[in-house]
Amino acid sequence: MTELTPALRTGALPSGKNRRIVIVIAAIASTGGLLFGFDTGVISGAIPYFQSRFQIGNDWVELITTAGLLGAVIGALFCGRLADVIGRKKVILAAGFVFAVGALWSGMAGDARMLIAARFFLGSAIGVSSFAVPLYIAEISPARTRGVLVSLFQLLITIGIMVSYFSDSAFALPEGAPGYAECWRPMFYVGVIPALIMFIGMVFLPETPRWLLRSGREEECRSVLERVEDPAEIGDVIARMKEEIALEAGNRVRWSAVVQPWLRTPLIIAIGIMFVQQFTGINTIIYYSPKIFLMAGFEGARAAITASITVGVVNVAFCVVSLFLVDRIGRRKLYFTGVGGMVVALIALSSCFVLQAHLGNMVKPVTVALVWIYCACFSVSLGPLGWLIISEVFPLNVRGIGSSIGSLSCWLFNGVVAFTFFKIVRALTFPGTDIVIGGDNVGNPAGAFALYALVGLGGLVWGFFFIPETKGKSLEHIEEHWRGGKSPRQL
Ligand code: BGC
Repeated sequence: MTELTPALRTGALPSGKNRRIVIVIAAIASTGGLLFGFDTGVISGAIPYFQSRFQIGNDWVELITTAGLLGAVIGALFCGRLADVIGRKKVILAAGFVFAVGALWSGMAGDARMLIAARFFLGSAIGVSSFAVPLYIAEISPARTRGVLVSLFQLLITIGIMVSYFSDSAFALPEGAPGYAECWRPMFYVGVIPALIMFIGMVFLPETPRWLLRSGREEECRSVLERVEDPAEIGDVIARMKEEIALEAGNRVRWSAVVQPWLRTPLIIAIGIMFVQQFTGINTIIYYSPKIFLMAGFEGARAAITASITVGVVNVAFCVVSLFLVDRIGRRKLYFTGVGGMVVALIALSSCFVLQAHLGNMVKPVTVALVWIYCACFSVSLGPLGWLIISEVFPLNVRGIGSSIGSLSCWLFNGVVAFTFFKIVRALTFPGTDIVIGGDNVGNPAGAFALYALVGLGGLVWGFFFIPETKGKSLEHIEEHWRGGKSPRQL
């Protein structure tokens, strides 16, 4: 992400045959992003149906959703080491296999416990691919196009979420139709297709030159570079890689390196921005929007899933917008505008649910419109900024560990939100506003949205002191700034 603008500006692809291989790499790696997004989003449309099939309440839904996230934490934790030992390519191949088996297993699950196990298993591949795929792309792409290819991965996650919404809606059946309680199974099975494409594609792609060089396989490294780099630059590229590898070996860093006092500020920034990104509730929409739309009065799971598709589309559209804004208007402005907009949308959403009884038919379109506004504001600000800022604030020698801490915090906070949403909805239902669906009192999400708005307000105050303006600053300059003991606002 960091190198987006220069790469976008100069981002011509290499010529001829090299151009083809770079495009193939981008395409295969894109399936990694798509899979990550697809398997994040697919559960949302499946929930109402497997709930009906297994006769389970929202507590179980939270458990099943969170199992995937827990798997992702574990996958992300062990992936770095594994990718160093067996190589990037083998790790991605293994993830492709786990994605495919996990998708089949999820679709075949005979009861809720089995579904938890299957989601946990599949989640580990999401965690692995969230780490290994961007690493693979960054290490194999020619320097000139690296920024574009890495940020493409972010965009593809949102496209994957959108595709899963479309696919869910294609299988969703209306209430009472034959096979109603089983139609969630093919929703999960579809995930096998991109997993196989990634697996088969990856078989034909090479290992990254950097890993090969580090493992003492210089000849193989050179032959991979001949396929992706400008031939005139290969010598320089290898020399530079050797320098970097020597530097890394001399500076073997431990996790404890990141808790030195002068690194406290970047650490607070990385964990803090992920806290705000997750605790303002984006994933309650990503995972549970059909359930939320049912609470807003949509009749039947199919109508609610169709409404969710529009959320997926807004998410993608504004992710594209953010690519063009982030280096133009700067991080702070984008943060305050985006989070401010999210807070307003959340307060409006909360009010809409409180006044549900009085708004009549208006509730449905107003809820959908407010969810769009909320998602649009997220997608231009906290979505990309979270990942961008964690990749910028740490000095080189702890950048890997620092951004791992950032992404692990993201998965953990995400898990907490997914696990608690329906509990919070019930606990914070304002008296007299309960919503009853199919004879079940499901509470009212107004209180939950108000709580997320409060976190957003806290995030605005926190951001005033802690969001650094990193636009146009070199990473060395940012490091010097922390070493000088200066505050983020002075950057
Ligand atoms: C967040 C994810 C979220 C996604 C939605 C990402 O930036 O980290 O938790 O599901 O945006 O597009």
